[in-house]
Amino acid sequence: MSSLKLSNKPGPIGIFDSGYGGLTILREIRQRLPRFDYMYLGDNARAPYGNRSFEIVYKFTLQAVKYLFEQGCHLVILACNTASAKALRTIQQHDLPVIAPDRRVLGVIRPTVEQLGTLSNNGNIGLFATQGTITSESYDMEIAKLFPDFKLTGVACPMWVPLIENNEADRPGADYFVKQEIDRLLEKSPEVDTVILGCTHYPILYKKIRHYLPDNIKIISQGQIVAESLADYLKRHPEIESKCSQNGTSTFLTTEQPEKFAEMATLFLGNDIKAHKITFD
Ligand code: DGL
Repeated sequence: MSSLKLSNKPGPIGIFDSGYGGLTILREIRQRLPRFDYMYLGDNARAPYGNRSFEIVYKFTLQAVKYLFEQGCHLVILACNTASAKALRTIQQHDLPVIAPDRRVLGVIRPTVEQLGTLSNNGNIGLFATQGTITSESYDMEIAKLFPDFKLTGVACPMWVPLIENNEADRPGADYFVKQEIDRLLEKSPEVDTVILGCTHYPILYKKIRHYLPDNIKIISQGQIVAESLADYLKRHPEIESKCSQNGTSTFLTTEQPEKFAEMATLFLGNDIKAHKITFD
């Protein structure tokens, strides 16, 4: 049985990412559902997750989920495609029933794929994501279930997350790597009409991606989609909603330097924040 110390009191909604990327999701969720409390956890000390093995991403993600549960969260969003691809199903099916059967963990891949039907005209979808997300084939599997006629072309962008984590996203060096992966996608699949930014860090490169991608290709960022899907989930699950506290606060936790996190998060969210450092064994 669970060895976690869990309180039954309502608590914040947990938002987890390997680093800063999940802030792009939090920003939209807060805008859509401002009344709730949020607890953001960025595992910056161990980011990026993108090239790590299944075992490690699963281990780190489970540690984070357990931590957030112990802080009072009853619902945790994996605001990270890599963690959603490599750890979500195992946590939902294997761990939750044992450690916290009444708590929930949700990911970002399924809600994103659900939108494709209304966005793509020709069913040719491009995916930019981490190597881990591409190799997991999680998007391929979800698309095959919901839109079996669609064709997915994935391109791994191993340099994009390090550029963002190192605050290089707006500098000229980033242009080279953004253009390189876009060219690769268009070479593999010139008929693509919709592109998924399948990593929550990538909206931070949005301007550059939009600049190099032909105008007729739509870009799907996940923030608004995940926010809408969370609002819908809470409406359908009043038993979970009643466990989410509602004072409109946000708390930020990081496994790296809190000052650096606060500086970056302030940039992304547009308001001053304070971060606290936590450590995992
Ligand atoms: N933001 C992440 C994702 O959505 C993580 C990227 C990484 O740590 O490599 O995949």
